[in-house]
Amino acid sequence: MTLRTIVTTPEPVLRRKARPVTKFDDKLQTLIDDMVETMREAPGVGLAAPQIGISERIIVVEYFENEEDEDSEEAESAPKKLYAIINPEITRTSPEKEVAPEGCLSIPGLLGEVERHLGVTVKGQNRRGQPVTLKLKGWVARIFQHEIDHLNGVLFTDLATRVWKPEEPIEDKV
Ligand code: CO
Repeated sequence: MTLRTIVTTPEPVLRRKARPVTKFDDKLQTLIDDMVETMREAPGVGLAAPQIGISERIIVVEYFENEEDEDSEEAESAPKKLYAIINPEITRTSPEKEVAPEGCLSIPGLLGEVERHLGVTVKGQNRRGQPVTLKLKGWVARIFQHEIDHLNGVLFTDLATRVWKPEEPIEDKV
């Protein structure tokens, strides 16, 4: 596996609409493995292919399954869920929305208040090309909305009602 370089604004690839993946070959498997390694190293909880300069519809997401356990002693043993989703699409959104702060690996040093749907249904393919449907709520639903925006050239600063430079290091960037 190879660490890839995360590109930052104003890199044009971040503003491009990424193309669908059609070949589920070895090259794709390597790319996904590299994305996972790059996300973990950053560290981040989500990464979209355009963030490493590749304009293809691929996202990886990794988060603690039980959010509440994150800061507790069980955090070490709490299971982490890893997703690699190809050609993801949001097919349903909940009417309920939630505003929360978001940071991005491609926009270092900034946080923004972003309104997101509380729940989304995502359809796409797994790394072998098999269809998957995910029903997501809360924090993970927010990560997926952020990553899928990346595939359409949209950044959180486009949506944020307020953007600021926090004093503390930003956690859970995506
Ligand atoms: Co991002």
